[in-house]
Amino acid sequence: MRLPGDSPPPHAEEPKGGRRVEARAASSPLLEARAVTRRFGGGGWFGTKRPALVAVDNVSLPLGPGETLGIVGESGSGKSTLARMLVGLLQPSAGDLALDGEALDLGRGADRRRLQRRAQMVFQDPASAMNPRKTVGASVEAPMIGLKGWDAPRRKARVAELFARVGLAPEHAARHPHEFSGGQLQRIGIARALSADPRIVVLDEPVSALDVSVQAQVLALLRELRAGGGLSLVFVSHDLAVVEALCDRVVVMRRGRVVEEGACRAVLSAPREDYTRELIQAARRFAA
Ligand SMILES: Nc1ncnc2c1ncn2[C@@H]1O[C@H](COP(=O)(O)OP(=O)(O)O)[C@@H](O)[C@H]1O
Ligand SMILES: [Mg+2]
Repeated sequence: MRLPGDSPPPHAEEPKGGRRVEARAASSPLLEARAVTRRFGGGGWFGTKRPALVAVDNVSLPLGPGETLGIVGESGSGKSTLARMLVGLLQPSAGDLALDGEALDLGRGADRRRLQRRAQMVFQDPASAMNPRKTVGASVEAPMIGLKGWDAPRRKARVAELFARVGLAPEHAARHPHEFSGGQLQRIGIARALSADPRIVVLDEPVSALDVSVQAQVLALLRELRAGGGLSLVFVSHDLAVVEALCDRVVVMRRGRVVEEGACRAVLSAPREDYTRELIQAARRFAA
């Protein structure tokens, strides 16, 4: 199903493969991280100063329109920190982001809002990502409030449309989070991310907290979003099989840095780095 404001699917009919990915990366990226670094801590009182932890270290990353980019790496490698910076929830300590080729000054509220309008996030734990006191419909509606041209009737219609899109009955909008299963809540989280019609959705381990039996439903929904075209997805996961099934391009992170990147199939079938090879082997052992 197509949403109002979606651009036509740029490459929806083309097969997955390296050549198309190269062509995309060469065109102007929709969103680009440029030498982005994020440090934590390092402050402290006189005499107790510790070195800062560098969670993301000088990462440059273009995201093309309609592209699905996977981010993989061991726990603590900086995936979530990078993901949060891409949607403006966290500011880089150094480097910057460019949206449609224009540098953003994330110290300015106007630029942060511009990014947040374009890029939305889906979190790992859907239960804690949703306000328990609000109806889920109100949560899905929230990103639309205050947008030009989105009066209450239009917002309500949009909520109903989004619930249908993620496979839930519109009546569910009147219920509270505790009335849903994890898989349903994650689909509601995806509806909320889509509600203000973003160009980019960043999903941070969106199925890791779910039972295996419901993971498949959420992944099927993501595959649908991907096939709809128009939307760029960033999919953070340690599940390499899922990344391979879903993503065009993948970056491999280790200790805050990108150690390998390329077309998804190429990287996962013929990794250049030992670290990537180890991740793949660990995933195989886990699956066996
Ligand atoms: N808010 C924070 N304050 C301090 N350290 C943090 C914070 N967020 C993440 N870190 C640290 O940054 C590193 C990268 O974390 P994270 O981005 O969550 O990695 P991943 O998502 O790959 O597991 C870890 O060492 C983590 O402990
Ligand atoms: Mg994480």
